[in-house]
Parts: sequence; C-alpha cells; structure tokens
Amino acid sequence: MIEEKLIAGVQAAVKSLYGMDTPAQQVQLQKTRDEFEGHLTVVVFPFVKAARKSPEMVGNEIGQYLVENLGDTVAKFNVVKGFLNLVISDAPWIALLNTINADEKYGFQPVTNKSPLVMIEYSSPNTNKPLHLGHVRNNLLGSALARIVEANGNKVVKTNIVNDRGIHICKSMLAWLKWGNGETPESSGKKGDHLIGDYYVAFDKHYREEVKELVAQGMDEEKAKQEAPLIKEAHEMLVKWEKNDPEVRGLWKKMNEWVYAGFDETYKMMGVSFDKIYYESDTYLEGKEKVIEGLEKGLFYRRDDGSVWADLTGEGLDEKLLLRSDGTSVYMTQDIGTAKLRFQDFPIDKMIYVVGNEQNYHFQVLSILLDKLGFKWGKDLVHFSYGMVELPNGKMKSREGTVVDADDLMAAMIADAYEASKERVKQTEMPEDEAREVARKVGLGALKYFILKVDARKNMLFNPEESIDFNGNTGPFIQYTYARIASILRKAKEQGIETDNAQLSTLNAQLSVKETELIQKLTQFPAAVRQAGTDYSPSGICNYCYELTKAFNQFYHDFSILGETNPELRQFRLSLAKAVAKVISLGMGLLGIEMPERM
Ligand code: ARG
Repeated sequence: MIEEKLIAGVQAAVKSLYGMDTPAQQVQLQKTRDEFEGHLTVVVFPFVKAARKSPEMVGNEIGQYLVENLGDTVAKFNVVKGFLNLVISDAPWIALLNTINADEKYGFQPVTNKSPLVMIEYSSPNTNKPLHLGHVRNNLLGSALARIVEANGNKVVKTNIVNDRGIHICKSMLAWLKWGNGETPESSGKKGDHLIGDYYVAFDKHYREEVKELVAQGMDEEKAKQEAPLIKEAHEMLVKWEKNDPEVRGLWKKMNEWVYAGFDETYKMMGVSFDKIYYESDTYLEGKEKVIEGLEKGLFYRRDDGSVWADLTGEGLDEKLLLRSDGTSVYMTQDIGTAKLRFQDFPIDKMIYVVGNEQNYHFQVLSILLDKLGFKWGKDLVHFSYGMVELPNGKMKSREGTVVDADDLMAAMIADAYEASKERVKQTEMPEDEAREVARKVGLGALKYFILKVDARKNMLFNPEESIDFNGNTGPFIQYTYARIASILRKAKEQGIETDNAQLSTLNAQLSVKETELIQKLTQFPAAVRQAGTDYSPSGICNYCYELTKAFNQFYHDFSILGETNPELRQFRLSLAKAVAKVISLGMGLLGIEMPERM
C-alpha cells in the first residue's frame, strides 16, 4: 500500500511540475540499495526529457513535492545520480506491521469456489522396494509445491500413482515364495516395505548367479538374461496375475498391503499426505482402452506384428510404442489410463507431475498423447522435473549398498539433532519427551530445508552435517531464531506485558533503519509467495525465510527488546518480533518444516 501511494504521488508530481501524464507502469519503484539512505527509490530518468532539466534537479523537485504533499508517507529524500531515494515515515510502517499481525494467513490468497483446480502428483513409488533418498526429494518438493500453489489461491488435489503391478513386484513375490519361509512383518518385526525390498534384492542376487552360470556354460549374456529360470518363472507369474489367477492375486494383495503399511509410516514421518491415491492395477486397463479408442480414431497405427504405435515424428519426436504385439501395456499406457481416471474424478485445470528428470522425454510424449486424446490439460501439463540427489561418498549406504533408505535417513537426522541439542542445552533441562519432539522437528527441518533450498532442477549432494549446522543457510538456523523469538514473547508474558493482538498507534520515538527495513522485508513475503507460485519454486521460499531471519538477527544484535526502557518502543519491538516469528512459521510451513517453541 505504500508503493501504490508513492506511485500515485509521483504521477501527481510529474503532472503538476511538468504537465506530463504518466501511466502507473512507467513509475519505476525499487528497493533502495543498501549503501544509500532510504527504503524505496524512484527512477527519475523517464521524466527528464519532459522536464528539460538535469536528473538531479528533477529528483529534487519530485522529492520536494512528495515531502510536501505526502508528508504522512514520505519523511525525507536524497538524490543520487537520477535516483530519488525516499525515506518512508514511521506511521505507514507501523500500520503495515499492524496489518501483518492481524492477518493469520498473511501473504496467502484465499481459495474460493471459483479457484482453478490444480492436481499435483508426487511420490509415485513402485511397490517392490522402500522409499529412498530420491523419493525424499520428490516428496518434499511435491508437498511443498502443493502448499505453495494452494497459498496462491488454487484448489489443490494431491495425488500419487502407485505402480503396484508388473514384473518388479512379481520378482519380490517369487523370491518370497522360494526363500521366505512364510516371513511376515509381524513374524520378523520388519517394516513391510523393507521386507518386500529385501526379497527383491534376494531375487536379483539369485538371478544374477543363474545368468553367470549360463554364461559360463557358453550362453550369450543377453540370451542368458532371458533364459534364466528365475526370470522365466517371474514372467509366468505376471501372466497368471494378468489372468486373475486367484492364488497369485491373493499373494500380490497381501504383499502389497505390507508395503502400503510401510509407506504410510514413512509418509507420516515425512509429513506428506495425499487426497487421492491411484493404483496402476486399476488404471492400466483403462489405458489400453484409451489407446484402442485412439487407434479407431486414426490417432495411432497398428504394425504388422499387432503392436500399436503413435507416430510423433511430426512433432519432432520418435515413434512411440503404446501396446506390445501380445497386447500387453507399457509404462506410457498406464499413464494414459491414470490420466483418464483422474480427469473423470476431478475437473482438472492444470496437472503437475513431480518426477525426476530422467523421465523428461516420457512426459514430453505424454503431453502430446494426452492432447491428441482430447484432455484439456494435456498440452499444458507441467512436468516438474528435478535432478538427482546423493550423499557424500561413504555416508549411509543402505543394505543394498547403493541407495540411501528414506527411513534410515530420517532416523539418523533425528538422532543427530537429539545429540546436538543434548550438548547445547545441558543447563536448560528440557523434559525428555519435549527434547525428542524438538529433535524430530529439527532433524527433519534440517533435511527438508537443505534439500528444498537447492534449485530443483540441479543435481545435489545432501550433506547431513552441513544441514544441521546452527549457523548458516540451514533449517535449524531459522528454527533457532524462531525459538528465540518465542522465548522473548514468553518472557514478556511472564512480565505481564501484553503481546496478543497489541495494535500499535504512533510512537513517541523514531524507528531505526534496521527496524523499518525489517518491516519492509516482512512486506515482501506476499510477493515471495507469489513468485514461488509462478516459478514453481520452493527454493524461493527458503531464500526468503533465510533473508528474513538474517535481517531479524541483525536487528536483534543491535537492539534490545525486553531491555528497552521506553515502553512504547518495547511494545513496538515485541510486535515486530512477533510478526517475524509468524512470517517465518508461515514460510517454513509452506515447506513442511515445523517450528519448535524452544530449542
Ligand atoms: N513409479 C515410477 C518410477 O518409479 C514413477 C511414476 C511417475 N509418475 C507417472 N505418472 N509416470 O519410475
């Protein structure tokens, strides 16, 4: 609101001084650079020609006009080379602070009946192994994106496609039948997804041995991979599954249930959830149907061997297989079927798929196919494509030796946070259950923030030690600042100082630059939320929270809050600290990071 007032003021000044009409878009207002005094800067060059004066003179004349006519907003000004730096008076800042404190959802757009519906797919695991570090990045990005898109005034449906059928799960099933001795999550106390994952690994081990043996007997390696008895058996199992063989289906159901129970625990710990989960076993037949429909409409064609293809050479892409010659479906087929069901279930305006960048081509093709098939959102579907994430060498190799397990990683982060806090807060004595809860928030906060602060498109290394450092661009640094403010507010209450809904009026003191700049930082939050929504960029929110936290710490370094003797100024600073804490927790909340009240 300060900006609007200033723009109108500049328009009026230019009209009155030089008789020139200026559209509002032509008034350039920027944040004043740190080396100059001021909050906002007007670029005066666009008016120089009409004024027929030097930029300095024009700046001085407009500045003078603003001080005389907008005295309640502009306190003083200075001109540096055609840039008019404006110092905003205290009253508008205080009014802004009051607005921020009064608005529970400051910076968020309301969602109404008329809001567009955005469906966001993330996670989307296969059911043959537990979630790993790559899924962690996926889930964190997807759920943060969902919150950011919703904060920008969209209805959001969070969805997940579970690839629950196919050769991969048959491999686990077969291995379990062969070597499982009836093991269940109950009997062995193992999490269901880990149990299934272990049988998948066992399958692979035996399978490789078989292949090795066949090769030693003189068979060509490619052939051996197809002829190994285990893989043949797994294929037979898949055929039986497709034919609805009750025994195979029964086992499949039972083992998938174990996996889902395991996934649910992981999701819960991670703090992610879904509004609607789709399963490939329900969607792949729909996909086949859609492909046949497209074939009949002449969108696709059939080759002599019976397989069905889409010719995308006109679009600069390849020819794409949609159904194999034996009529079985491929990965693309199920995505078409899933799209069909989703569109039946929800009036989707926009669809976002959070999937790793190794599937860029897949989604390019999917977009064209869905468009051809008449899905309104197909053409503009968003593939939110992200890069790989790894741990520094040697850290936390899982049982398979290559991937980092999501549960293990979260547990390790929480354990580290617990140890770190035990060292720090020896004196303060936190009750054990609170200490555990704080460690959970801090450990997960460290993990989430470190992953989300990186541009999603980039490959990254997750460094656990660096992520949990209390100094620097980390989750715990921000959480610590929040906890510090919470502690100040608690102390204020103890001293009988009102901090709830305290609306400030004018002050009998002048605000310092660090104070007004901190308010200015706060007022940039709505724009940061908007920007993150347009760019689909959780990292933008990280950045904002970090900048705000730094600004608060700079302020707090120089000024005392409870130690301030002027009660009005003390009240103002409490109010300011409270607003900072609120915006930090709103921002970090968008990232799925919880704030501890004590640390
Ligand atoms: N389950 C697949 C995988 O692990 C990812 C699925 C991505 N989503 C989709 N709609 N295709 O590779």
